[in-house]
Amino acid sequence: MSKNTYVLLVASVTACGGLLFGFDVGVISGALLYFGPEFQLEDLGKEFVTSAVLVGSFIGALSAGWLIRRFGGQRSNFIAGCIFIVGALASAFAPDPESLAAARVLVGLGVGVTAVAAPLYVAEIAPADRRGLMITLFQLFITIGIVLSYLVDVVAAPHWRVMFGIGAVPGVVLAVGMLFLPQSPRWLIARGRHAEARTVLLKTMDQADVDIVLSEAQREADTQQNASGGWHVFKQRAARRALFITTTLAVFQQLIGINSVIYYAPSIFKAAGFHGDSSALWATFAVGVVNVLATFITIRYVDKAGRRTLLIAGLVGMTIALSVLGLAFHFTTSGATSETLAWTTLGCVMLYIACFAFSMGPLVWVLIGEMFPQRARGPGNAIAVGGNYAANFLVGVTFLSLLAFAGPAITFFLFAGAAILNLLFVYFYVPETAGRSLEEIERELQGDEPA
Ligand code: BGC
Repeated sequence: MSKNTYVLLVASVTACGGLLFGFDVGVISGALLYFGPEFQLEDLGKEFVTSAVLVGSFIGALSAGWLIRRFGGQRSNFIAGCIFIVGALASAFAPDPESLAAARVLVGLGVGVTAVAAPLYVAEIAPADRRGLMITLFQLFITIGIVLSYLVDVVAAPHWRVMFGIGAVPGVVLAVGMLFLPQSPRWLIARGRHAEARTVLLKTMDQADVDIVLSEAQREADTQQNASGGWHVFKQRAARRALFITTTLAVFQQLIGINSVIYYAPSIFKAAGFHGDSSALWATFAVGVVNVLATFITIRYVDKAGRRTLLIAGLVGMTIALSVLGLAFHFTTSGATSETLAWTTLGCVMLYIACFAFSMGPLVWVLIGEMFPQRARGPGNAIAVGGNYAANFLVGVTFLSLLAFAGPAITFFLFAGAAILNLLFVYFYVPETAGRSLEEIERELQGDEPA
């Protein structure tokens, strides 16, 4: 098997973690329609079951740092797949709402662990000139997972147990697939297992690159030999800066409102004048498809145009889309026809989702995967991803109240404001990492300060 095919294989199996993530984001909306009445749940009960998964993901992300340090990226992803399978089956057979909520926490644990461990593992295995593309596969699989879950919701309805149970399939692919993949090379080096690390790296890189990576990774491991684990790793400037940049980006990824569109697209389209459930649902399905397709722009350009160019272009597009959306809703109240509003809304939502899909969607995962120095990789990724879930939860629980209290115009203007801040942050703080080895990135972040 050629080196290129091998890297692609590793990245694709690992990206099944993204499939779990996306499937889980989407499946609940359909399942809720049926388990809600069966268990006679009020709104509070529904919210409880729905948010259980985010609580699990948050805990999973935070514990992933420890798991990765202890077991390495490959085994951590295997463990995540196993937890997910148990969670998906437990959800499918849950006898009452409490057990269902507990099962959803388990599912969330699996998703949280893999959201940290998958990009990190791929970043360590992929050669520098294809690393962006390979981690982007994780986001591609998230978007495919979302569309698949919409389809499963439609096809399996009203059998909500089947909807949840099908989630076990990508879990099995992830867990079984990981058994055949190698341990992360940098984790092996940190444990003095050089020969094994060399064998793994030789499967994906040329001899010359392997020598460079091995000697740089060894130097990094030596420098950090005396630093104890835990929070001390953030005494190093490069680790602190990586933590600041990735966590801020991970939180912004949610504050610009992505999941309000993913979760509530049907409600937004209805508010804009699309009549009937079916046209709103089709429009939502189209959003899911655009989300998948636009991710290919990143696959094509991430390692050539660079991370910054894509981020900046996407954020400018999202700011325009959100501002026009805000203006459209603002002027409708003062009399514009609702047909104009409906089409403007559809256009803006599509522009917004496409711009997200080639910028903040994949690149947050890419940067989280590649920016941390070895020792800080586990805890650093865990905190950044934990921040992402916390912000996701916050926007999820406030969006509908904000919409009711302030109206759609102000809500979209607020998201546009967050996109402008996000743009300024990228412009001033995010370094270009395309084409550099993980060790070079660390040196740039470290600046003049001794490690
Ligand atoms: C985000 C998710 C979001 C998804 C949409 C991911 O990068 O982290 O919260 O649902 O993109 O495609």
